[in-house]
Formats: sequence, structure tokens, C-alpha cells
Amino acid sequence: MQTLETQAHQQDHQIVEKSYTIKDWQGGYESLPEEYDYWIDDIEGEIPPELAGTLFRNGAGLLDINGERLHHPFDGDGMISRITFINGRAHFRNRFVQTAGYLAEQKAKKILYRGVFGTQKPGGWLANIFDFKLKNIANTNVIYWGKKLLALWEAAEPYLLNPHTLETLENEYFNGVLSKGEAFSAHPRIDPRGILVNFAIKPGLLTTITIFELNTKGEITSKKNHKVPGFCFIHDFVITENYCIFFQNPVKFNPIPFALGICGAAECIKVQKNQPTKIIIIPRTTNTPIEKVKILETKAGFIFHHVNAFELENEIIVDSICYESLMEVEPNSDYRKTDFDKNSPPQIWRFHLNLLENQVQNQLIDTRTTEFPTIHPCHVGKPYRYLYSAAAHQSTFNAPLQAIFKVDLESGTKQLWSTAPRGFVGEPIFVPRVNSQQEDDGWIIVVVYNAENHRSEIVILDAQNLAKGRIAKLGLKHHIPYGLHGSFTPEIFI
Ligand SMILES: [Fe+2]
Repeated sequence: MQTLETQAHQQDHQIVEKSYTIKDWQGGYESLPEEYDYWIDDIEGEIPPELAGTLFRNGAGLLDINGERLHHPFDGDGMISRITFINGRAHFRNRFVQTAGYLAEQKAKKILYRGVFGTQKPGGWLANIFDFKLKNIANTNVIYWGKKLLALWEAAEPYLLNPHTLETLENEYFNGVLSKGEAFSAHPRIDPRGILVNFAIKPGLLTTITIFELNTKGEITSKKNHKVPGFCFIHDFVITENYCIFFQNPVKFNPIPFALGICGAAECIKVQKNQPTKIIIIPRTTNTPIEKVKILETKAGFIFHHVNAFELENEIIVDSICYESLMEVEPNSDYRKTDFDKNSPPQIWRFHLNLLENQVQNQLIDTRTTEFPTIHPCHVGKPYRYLYSAAAHQSTFNAPLQAIFKVDLESGTKQLWSTAPRGFVGEPIFVPRVNSQQEDDGWIIVVVYNAENHRSEIVILDAQNLAKGRIAKLGLKHHIPYGLHGSFTPEIFI
């Protein structure tokens, strides 16, 4: 383990050796076809007895179908991992989401569907031409809301799972408010007032952004459509008390190669580096300082994920992870051979949206490669002080995510806990201590892939003091392929 200080010291002395090897990093992209169910007995340190609840995680469990490699991990079938904490113990279970596509391909033992990120059916372009069928892979996020456990994928309806068994039950349509095949994004935001806010994108020359609000019973109480000009590729959004905010990435979409069976839909998206990002501000109610949709412009590169947003007098502050350009997927490339040095690092930026002057000011918060930001759940849409993210070991180069990074946005101080050289981290989740008074009083829970033994570990850190190192390391009997998103609920499911 290294702290920020020791790492900075190394850079002073210009030690530029890589903190990882590509071979180690590639190990986290092997399929895990097995499903497990066991109490974790390989524990170093101590699980805090007051840490009680269930962590759900989602991500591609399969990177191949019967040995036939997928073109991109985002095309992989969703697999839910569940870690339950109770009385200082932890239980693990994983299950594949039994989507229609997963069941069909497992039965056929071959790829039957094209993936959005470039996976093609065998047989070249002739086998793929004019095939626009989507496979809902339910692999991006998993949330427990209104007594429903939902596996989410941004281009289609959720899958409903049994939280006790992880058994797949059916598609969720929220009493018919959602129609068959209708999108429901994988990036809901939970307004601490007890409202889950989510969106859907229907791209076109005019894009429709649908905003959903759900009550604590898991019912959709509001569904509103908004038309905005131009093609939108939007993965995430942020909320404040009064607004939903979307960053419309500057991209161009040419669907012809996709239609002709030459490549996946996402491979037809090209970032327009010199074009501005449009910031779409949509009022959540009619009782807001601005009543109509407002669009501002700025230079922001490409954004997958935002950290948070809040209102401050005449401004909305938005914190986001910005890429100078999108790491483009090419039809004949191999994602496992990514050259990190050739890409610019995703970095934390703060945007000040001035609603009176219609101006945007941008401020770089930190140069470090960082992704998968998270915050205290009670501060979503509100002023906040601490953000946590997965980050690179080095502070300036683009590199795999090997560390957990904490930024104090008030004082500017930063902390780093690194798993380099052989560890690789996923999305951290902040779990507040029950009845905590301070914003950072709680734990960071993260899945770490350890290339040394090709297994994954669940690591618990003290969010107030990352430099203290691991409070507990829970060794799994296997690895978990690199995942995407997840969530924590204080409810116990075993
Ligand atoms: Fe995401």
C-alpha cells in the first residue's frame, strides 16, 4: 500500500516505471461462468460489526460465448455479485441475469446477437447486415429500490430479481408505465428526499429525453418527455433539488456501417473534439427559478460519469469526469491490448453554470486518471465536501484503475490508497456509519482484482483515513471479472 505522499515523492525523483503490467490487467477480463454461494472465511483484519447490509454489484460475467470472444466487455452478459455483511461476517453469492438473450446463447452455445459495442455474429458482415435486434444484457447497474431489485441496462427495460436468491423473475414495467423494449437508464440518482430519478434517451435528429420519478414504493409517479436538438449519446446525468442536468457530448453518429453489418452501433460514434458540449438543464417542476429547458455550451470533451451537482445562488455546480476524447472502439481491435499511454486521462472537472448570464466556467480539480466517482448518498444533489473514486496509481498518466482516491473539495487535500502493482480496483461504494455526523464517517467498499492469485478481494477502508490501509480484506475463492456499477442497501439478504 502506498499513500499519496510516497507516490508524489517518487514522481519528484522521476521514477516513471509503470505501476502495472498489461498481462496482469488482462487477467480481470476472463469470464466467470460458475455461480457460487458461500460464507467468506478468508478474512484479514476485521469486518466492522456495525457494518450491516448488502452490496450488490453488476458487470459482464462472460467475456466469451462458448470460447468465442466478445468484441468488447460492455457487450457481456450481466452477472450480479452480492456480498452481505452481518455480525462481522460476510456472505457471497453470484448469479447471471437470465435474460432472454443469455438463455438463448447458452442453449445455442454460440453468439446469436450483435452487441452495441461491436460484438458481431460469426460469418462476417453478410451475417450481420440489417440485423438491428438488441440483446438486453442487463449488465450495467443493480439497485434495490421500493422492495425491487433491478438489473439495469440503459437501452431497454430492467430485469426484476429476487434479492434473497438473485433468481431472475421477469422484466419490470412499473405497472405498465414502461412499454416493452422501452429504455430506462442504468444511472438513476436518488434524491435524498426519497425520490428515485432516472432518464431514458431516444436518439435521433431530435432526441427525446424522458425523465422518470419513482416513489419509495417503486412506482413511477412522473414521466415527462423533452425534445432536444441533435443526436445524443448520454450515459449519466445529475440532479439538484430543482433540475436534471445532462451533458450532450459532442459526437457524430453515422449509422451506415452498423446497418451494413460492418461494425457495432457504438463504433459509429465519433467524438467531435473541437465542438462544444451542450449542457441541457431541465426543470423538475414548474416551480423553479428557470421554467423552460435551458441549453448552455462549454468545452468538456467526453463524459461518461458525473460526480454530483448542487445549486448555489444563481449557479448550478456540476462535478464530472471528463475525457479529452473517447477511447474509440475499432472493428478489428482487441480491447485487452489497450495502450493506456495513447489516451488522455479521464479527470475531475468542476463546471459553474451561471443561470443568469448563461455562462459556463470550467475548473480542473485534479490531473489524476479517475473514474467511477461516488459520494455520501445524503448529499446527492446538494452541497458536498468529499468525493471518492477509482484512480490510477500515478498522478499524471493515463493508466488502469489501481487505487482509491479521496478528494476534500473544501480544503483541496487528497488521499490515495493503492493496490499497485498487481491489484486493480472497480467502483468504490461509500457506506455511511449509522447515525454518523460527519460526511466522511463511514466505509469504502471495493472489489479488487488481484493478479497475483487471479482472485478478487472485497476490501473495506475507513473513508476518513484511507492511509490507514485496509480495515478488512475478504478473499474470494475466485475472481470477479471487472464490473461496472452497484449499490448498497442496509437491508440484509442472504
Ligand atoms: Fe456508468
